[in-house]
Amino acid sequence: MSTASKDQNEQTGQRAMWSSRMAFILAATGSAVGLGNIWKFPYITGENGGGAFVLVYLLCIAVIGIPIMMAEVMIGRSGRKSPISAMRILATRAGRSANWQWVGWMVIASAFIILSFYSVIAGWALSYIGYAASGTFAGASAETIGGIFSSLLADPATLLLWHSLFMLLTIVVVARGVRGGLERAVTLLMPALFVLLLVMVGYAVAAGDFARGFAFLFRPDFSKLTTSAVLTAMGHAFFTLSLGMGAMMAYGSYLPEKVSIAKTAIIVSIMDTVVALLAGLAIFPIVFANGIEASSGPGLVFQSLPLAFGQMPGGALFGTLFFILLVFAAWSSSISLLEPLVEWLEEHRGIDRKIAAIGGGVSIWLLGLVSVFSFNIWSDVKPLSMFKMFEGKTMFDLLDYLTANIMLPLGGLLAALFVGWALSSKSVREALEMEDNMQFKVWYTLVRYVTPVAVLIVFIYNLG
Ligand code: PHE
Repeated sequence: MSTASKDQNEQTGQRAMWSSRMAFILAATGSAVGLGNIWKFPYITGENGGGAFVLVYLLCIAVIGIPIMMAEVMIGRSGRKSPISAMRILATRAGRSANWQWVGWMVIASAFIILSFYSVIAGWALSYIGYAASGTFAGASAETIGGIFSSLLADPATLLLWHSLFMLLTIVVVARGVRGGLERAVTLLMPALFVLLLVMVGYAVAAGDFARGFAFLFRPDFSKLTTSAVLTAMGHAFFTLSLGMGAMMAYGSYLPEKVSIAKTAIIVSIMDTVVALLAGLAIFPIVFANGIEASSGPGLVFQSLPLAFGQMPGGALFGTLFFILLVFAAWSSSISLLEPLVEWLEEHRGIDRKIAAIGGGVSIWLLGLVSVFSFNIWSDVKPLSMFKMFEGKTMFDLLDYLTANIMLPLGGLLAALFVGWALSSKSVREALEMEDNMQFKVWYTLVRYVTPVAVLIVFIYNLG
């Protein structure tokens, strides 16, 4: 932004806004749809036995995810500031303690940590585009492909290169600002992603065991459902909808008035779910057709799929498309992880957006080195092994654990408590601009009681 227009904005109190409801929906969907949908959802579904797990996951999205997303977007839009300032402003306005701003600090810290390792994993996907395109997987055996994966992880320089490139992509978009950067990127990335995903599903129909993949996802077998699967499903609902990390608050702070928060949150959640299910429909038919174990874990996308691509006609092309898709999805998520911090640096410290994006991005990149080295030269560094629950965890594992199992549910829980208990129901209702009394009551009950109790259960389970 030029100095002149910035001054003008400050005088008129104007701030950047999404140009339309559609732009917000694309951006929020871009944030939600990420590695969580295409990499994590299929493998945890595979590990947890399919259909019944999917059903619980869908229930969690509806009952916990959507209400909290509404709460977070509402906090952003009412405060019209970064998560830290928005929490402070709303709390003071309601006559509550300004200490609520610490929730803002926590969610920004979570986003900071998550992006540091998210970028490293997105880097794997970047490097796999090259492998797939160059035909490395063609006719390769499971061992060869496993070897490619482990030598990638064992090579700090290569991991560093891809991690750096991915952070650069993220910084470039965020530096360009809400309309010129974020909005423009998601308007290109999201439709491309949908098209690529449909192509992949088409490929799975043609070349995979589609009937079996479909049944695996949609025919619930409750005998396979464990308590830990229920809790995994709930935790994943948070991660996949980008909740508890300030992303939805930051994006909500650019949301114009008069846009229905309830409707948009429902649309975004549905799109996120559709993408996850489509990813499952693209992946499992290929997995089953090739005799791959559905429960093979985090390597499902990086080790099992290349095997399938290497054996199938047109595999090089579709493999390349698949990893491009994964990078697109991760990219539109990573920008939403950097945005809350940049928004805060800009508004609170008066730092120019470009500098803020570079400064924030470089700091996150630096922390990312911890994850990069966790897979190789520091793979033996397990600093918290004296505690039973952290035994054998590398620093990457610890960062993942700290955010996903502790900070994220806590962020979501606190956002729900803030909106459900600290603010008055009248102000909340006005901020949501919800006319229908019944709808409001349902949402309010979910946010006040159902969500906090459910999150507490996950939380206690994960700590215990
Ligand atoms: N929702 C993203 C995914 O599924 C991850 C993410 C979490 C992005 C939090 C932004 C904020 O991959």
